[in-house]
Amino acid sequence: MKKAFITGITGQDGSYLAELLLGKNYEIHGLIRRSSTFNTDRIDHLYKDFHDPEARVYLHYGDLSVSGQLTDFSYNIKPDEIYHLGAQSHVRVSFDMPEYTGDVTGLGTLRILEAIRKTGIKTRFYQASSSEMFGAAPPLQNELTPFQPRSPYAVAKVYAYYMVKNYRDAYRLFACNGILFNHESPRRGETFVTRKITRTATQIKMGLKDKLYLGNLEAKRDWGYAGDYVEAMWRMLQEDSPDDYVIATGETHSVREFVEKVFTKLDLDDKKHVFIDARYFRPTEVDILQGDASKARQRLGWRPKVSFDQLIDMMIEADMEIAKKEKTLMEAGYIDQKNRCPA
Ligand code: NAP
Ligand code: GDD
Repeated sequence: MKKAFITGITGQDGSYLAELLLGKNYEIHGLIRRSSTFNTDRIDHLYKDFHDPEARVYLHYGDLSVSGQLTDFSYNIKPDEIYHLGAQSHVRVSFDMPEYTGDVTGLGTLRILEAIRKTGIKTRFYQASSSEMFGAAPPLQNELTPFQPRSPYAVAKVYAYYMVKNYRDAYRLFACNGILFNHESPRRGETFVTRKITRTATQIKMGLKDKLYLGNLEAKRDWGYAGDYVEAMWRMLQEDSPDDYVIATGETHSVREFVEKVFTKLDLDDKKHVFIDARYFRPTEVDILQGDASKARQRLGWRPKVSFDQLIDMMIEADMEIAKKEKTLMEAGYIDQKNRCPA
């Protein structure tokens, strides 16, 4: 049985990847942060048999800012594959917390690479690189496009990307950069724009809210489905030699188009409900991302399966279920309407 160590297992991608690897009979070890509230919602269904001696998911408390622990985990677990997905992953927040983002998102990668080098374990390493690194570069972006990062998050990811390349060359580590374009799902964090839109629009549909506040509606993104993208991560680590790959759909759509589609599908008038709040604009914006994943198609045999419209339908359906439950609980007086902090 192969062993995988996943950082960021509690996040969107970590949960889909853990599911995929369990289906392939891996033993899963995940890095988890201590939190004052439960932060395992996305993976609870994977270890419902937690107390079962046959359980194949193990969680280890730690943090990407603590290197000694990462070395211990590497040595003790000796994973066949490490998927490094943990990061401060919110671009807007990275402008508020540039030092923290540099530490966790940039140096966090170096700490794991060092753990592998120092312990000498034989493992394959996946780095969650990002299309955000392309920044101001024109579409269609591919593996040869020079990076022009536009946020502290993107700069931290560029640092990590080159560290992975350097450790591959200098120490012959089997280390890959997956340069993934935006990917979404019903498990997407609620402060990322797609989920913010589907979550709030379905609440508006159920009469729980009236307004959706957004920032720049003209930005364009290449949005795919997270479930398809974790398959590409796994495929990269099954190759004979390590390399870097762009993973994208090749389509691009504006935030405005996403909003209009969601509201139309829900038979709502976005003009009545959507408002602009300048606080959601970024000091520097990435105007357009559209990826060219030809290399991944040819070498990994990877292609996206879920279309833009199917992705939106999937997210609306899941969020509609949540909104219906919220309405029932609110009517019964069990919960009040939540006013979440902005991001
Ligand atoms: P996400 O939902 O925000 O998950 C981030 C994960 O990192 C969470 O499990 C989080 O733990 C963990 N984490 C954050 N800070 C940490 C720390 N100091 N120590 C240990 N763990 C920490 O992100 P995602 O969408 O799944 O993305 C996964 C990775 O791919 C990230 O590195 C992201 O930057 C990158 N990426 C994402 C996309 C995308 O479109 N989704 C595209 C390209 C690249 P908590 O649950 O405790 O917060
Ligand atoms: N979050 C957010 N909230 N974004 C908004 C809003 C809003 O209210 N209004 C407009 N936007 C615009 C942003 O300005 C940006 O241009 C676009 O919507 C997408 O924003 P996000 O969903 O926050 O994603 P991102 O593209 O900045 O970053 C995501 O994708 C990267 C890959 O390109 C994250 O998942 C990163 O971790 C990932 O690396």
